[in-house]
Amino acid sequence: MTFKPAAWPRPLRSQHWYGGNTRDVIYHRGWLKNQGYPDDLFDGRPVIGILNTWSDLTPCNGHLRELAEKVKAGVWEAGGFPLEVPVFSASENTYRPTAMLYRNLAAMAVEETLRGQPIDGAVLLVGCDKTTPSLLMGAASTDIPSIVVTGGPMLNGHFHGERVGSGTHLWRYSEAVKAGEMSQEEFLEAEQSMSRSSGTCNTMGTASTMASMAEALGMALSGNAAIPAVDSRRRTLAHLSGRRIVQMVKDDLKPSDVMTRQAFENAIRTNAAIGGSTNAVIHLLAIAGRVGVGLTLDDWDRLGRDVPTIVNLMPSGEYLMEEFFYAGGLPVVLRRLGEAGLLHKEALTVSGGAIWEEVRSVRNWNEAVILPEGKALADSGGIVVLKGNLAPNGAVLKPSAASPHLMVHRGRAVVFEDIDDYKVRINDESLDIDETCIMVLKNCGPRGYPGMAEVGNMGLPPKVLRKGITDMVRISDARMSGTAYGTVVLHASPEAAAGGPLAVVRDGDMIVLDVPARALVLEVSDEELAARLATRRSVHPSAASGYVWLHQQHVGGADTGADLDFLKGCRGSAVGKEAH
Ligand code: FES
Repeated sequence: MTFKPAAWPRPLRSQHWYGGNTRDVIYHRGWLKNQGYPDDLFDGRPVIGILNTWSDLTPCNGHLRELAEKVKAGVWEAGGFPLEVPVFSASENTYRPTAMLYRNLAAMAVEETLRGQPIDGAVLLVGCDKTTPSLLMGAASTDIPSIVVTGGPMLNGHFHGERVGSGTHLWRYSEAVKAGEMSQEEFLEAEQSMSRSSGTCNTMGTASTMASMAEALGMALSGNAAIPAVDSRRRTLAHLSGRRIVQMVKDDLKPSDVMTRQAFENAIRTNAAIGGSTNAVIHLLAIAGRVGVGLTLDDWDRLGRDVPTIVNLMPSGEYLMEEFFYAGGLPVVLRRLGEAGLLHKEALTVSGGAIWEEVRSVRNWNEAVILPEGKALADSGGIVVLKGNLAPNGAVLKPSAASPHLMVHRGRAVVFEDIDDYKVRINDESLDIDETCIMVLKNCGPRGYPGMAEVGNMGLPPKVLRKGITDMVRISDARMSGTAYGTVVLHASPEAAAGGPLAVVRDGDMIVLDVPARALVLEVSDEELAARLATRRSVHPSAASGYVWLHQQHVGGADTGADLDFLKGCRGSAVGKEAH
């Protein structure tokens, strides 16, 4: 794609606040001067909003104020006027019932933060899982020039001689405790080694996946995704991004120029190659909905089907983000996709050039981490989209994190009506379950939970774990942490709380999972299924008021990105009326 930069100089939107000498302009400008800004900063130069998701309660983004200072230095150098703006920060490890409940609220706040204020360009300072998609969604809905800077992953954790992956080892160790293979004391000792430095989860979890998606979409400078949070090169990248956004404003290089259909297709294939999180499916569908790209769930299956997973990182593989960075990071993966004819090479990035130009000559420095041609963690690594009478609108499964022997499986359903029911009964030794069964969890979708929590990777019952079994087929309308693993069918749509067939599965029903055939089938007749659905009772009434009410009234299904219906699309950056 050839991008034609806009003419410069020209009046920018910030001049509606700061240009001239009317009473209203003095009101906007004069008050800002209480911070000591001289007159010439209001002369029409690009005003850059550094949208910062720093919060003491979002530890993964706890170092972003330091990075913001580096961004500011770059903006100053390039002749812009940087202003740091705090925005809604939805922390994955803190928010209840789930940070996902607040992704859309955060996106809405970001959109209005950008549109309602004198911001010509935005640097999106993000990291923890939901912060990246929410800021991209908000920026996309205004189409103001924007660039992503992620906080970067934590350094490797180590415990008793092995690498400790964020999240991945939390799930692994807690199952080991249940199986009697690890003591509670050891578990607590391991806690100290899990989060070794500032930064996001060090596995290819959702944060690293979304950082990779931002880079593959072209919304971040090349190499952004993998640089560790504490590496000096992370700060250099922030500095360079500050410089770059100023030129992007001058050129009028907008999110809609970068996030084209080609860019989303590149991102989907990248997700397959890195063994990325299933959460990327929901987030990319939602972001695409904001820029008007008609991405569908089927695109994920179609585009990812022939892409091998070549990044050997937990939870699918062995290594962590630090090693991915040393191996060359995402540019190496993009180069490999390009060589295999699986990359739209001409897709534009925030650099103003084609993505291929940035990656064509990079080298792989560690073929144990980024596997060479002919080797793969999964030959077909793309997210699998399953359909059938149990999920008419689709469900997803991540093949690189699943067990090959369970990819075709018929089993007896053991049903949990909701997450509380699961928690009460899963450790009960009298629960009628063995490893051939299929665990079914209901009412954990966008509307039902509410917010669609990461509970789809239900822990196995202790009596199964004690046999040395580590995986069973699990089906739900929930999500799964990007750091988790297993033969886990997620996002079943429509969700149970919206009247999907999942709501009427009963203990003892037989279910067939056939990944090669992309099938998820409940073995009951159409008549029986219709009769059950007709008499279904909702177990979770909606909230009566407040944000949760708004969310439950307007949230869409996981199959379309779980955005709020009234937030889809781009509403632009038209400047509102004067305040007085
Ligand atoms: Fe914040 Fe993983 S919990 S990045």
